Parts: sequence; structure tokens; C-alpha cells
Amino acid sequence: MAHAVTETAASAPLPRHIAITMDGNGRWAAARGLARTAGHKAGLEPVRLCVRECARLGIEALTLFAFSSENWSRPAEEVASLMGLFLEAIDREVSELDRQAVRLRIIGNRHALSVRLQAQIAAAEQRTAHNTGLKLQVAVSYGGRWDIVQAARALATQCTSGALALTAIDEAHFAAALELGTLPDPDLLIRTGAERRLSNFLLWNLAYAELYFSDLLWPDFDATEFARALAFFAGRERRFGQAAGEGATALKAAP
Ligand code: FPP
Repeated sequence: MAHAVTETAASAPLPRHIAITMDGNGRWAAARGLARTAGHKAGLEPVRLCVRECARLGIEALTLFAFSSENWSRPAEEVASLMGLFLEAIDREVSELDRQAVRLRIIGNRHALSVRLQAQIAAAEQRTAHNTGLKLQVAVSYGGRWDIVQAARALATQCTSGALALTAIDEAHFAAALELGTLPDPDLLIRTGAERRLSNFLLWNLAYAELYFSDLLWPDFDATEFARALAFFAGRERRFGQAAGEGATALKAAP
């Protein structure tokens, strides 16, 4: 009944910003007797699907967790293979992203990446910078705590130089210094792989996100499951800390 699920989502309130933790590549590969890297490669297809679907539905922003600060401690070959995959993916996909009017940005500690990857990222970002369609963020070498610390440091530097008054720092100002900057907070987090935790992803920005946990492993994530996540979101009453009632209903239609 994939069709019915898609239909429900089409007429219901959509998230403005979706964040996805793409988990389960290693288990998907192991179940087939393949190397973990084969799972990461297979994980590219659902990435393409999510970009296409978000662009088609007019969703404003999509942020994908591709490599965490903690992932550096994986075996060296797996890290090298993932970095190679990112290089290859940017190289191969940037034209198609551009064709779909997607604006690509990489968030995370890019100084930890190879000079070659940094250069390729900069070129892809520049090429798509003026696109007005989907805003696609890929988190690489990203950690939510790292993000908060780098924002605090940036603001502290401005305070020390006299460019910023301590009293000018409020939540909006702090949020703007985070990697997502002035993008709206994700209102839906999808996590695949049957784990139910945040794993240090967008700790500040996910404060009020609805959480959709899927038992599917990331390479198996498909249009039906994406539509299910949207239907789940459409059915949530978003309260942002308010009591249930009229205000909450209004927020549901316009979060
Ligand atoms: C987590 O699964 C997944 C990753 C660490 C890598 C995600 C990367 C991709 C989907 C590839 C391409 C992405 C882009 C945006 C170019 P896991 O290895 O932790 O799986 P496990 O929990 O089964 O071990």
C-alpha cells in the first residue's frame, strides 16, 4: 500500500527541514557476506532517492549524517574507503544536484579532511551556491558537541575583540553561529538501523524535532518508508512546550 501512504503525505503538513541519520550499512553488508564498505556504497542510492523526493515535494532543507567525529576511530581501511566514497560521490553527483537546483553544503570539521577532499567540497559548494531549490547539508566529521564548542569559540573571539557585546548573545545569535546557521531547525529526524538515540547529531537544532525510528537498514530505505516517515510527521501534534489545545493545533498546521 505504498501508494496510499504517499497520497496521505501529499495532502498533509510537510516538514520544512528533515535530518537523517543513515545507520545500518555495515549490518546490511554483513547479512550478505560482503565487506562493510559495500554497505556504504549501497547507501548512496537511498541518498539520491531522499534528495529527489525532498526536491519534488518542495521541502526546504535536508541534512544527512554521513560521518561523525567518532567515526574516525573505525578501522583505517573503512575510514579510507568512506573518504574515497565521498570524493567519488561529490565528483559524480554534483552535476545532477546542480540540475535539480540543489544547494550543497558540507557541515562539520572540514579541516580534519584531506586537502583534496576539502578542495572538492569547496568547488561543489561554489558551483551550487546560487541554486534556489533544496538546501542539502551533508555532515562529515561532524559532532553536535563539537558544533556547540566551535560556535561558543567563534562568539567568544568576537567578544574578546570587542566586535560583539556579551549581552547581545541570545539563543538566535548562538544558533546562527552553529553549522546550520540560519536554516530552520529540522522538524523531523529520521534514523534507520533500529537504534533509538541521537548519537551526537545536531544536539542544539533537534531540540523540538519529531523522531521517526525505522527498523530498516539504510541501504533498504526506500520511497515507501520515506512516505511513512512523512505520514508519521503529519500525524504529530507539535506543541513546542505549550499545553495541548488550540494553540497546539495551530502550530501543527504551521510549525
Ligand atoms: C552508518 O552505518 C553509516 C555511515 C557511517 C556512512 C554513511 C555513508 C553513506 C550512506 C554513503 C554516502 C553518503 C553520502 C552523503 C555521499 P554503520 O556503518 O554504522 O552501520 P552498522 O550500524 O550496521 O555498523
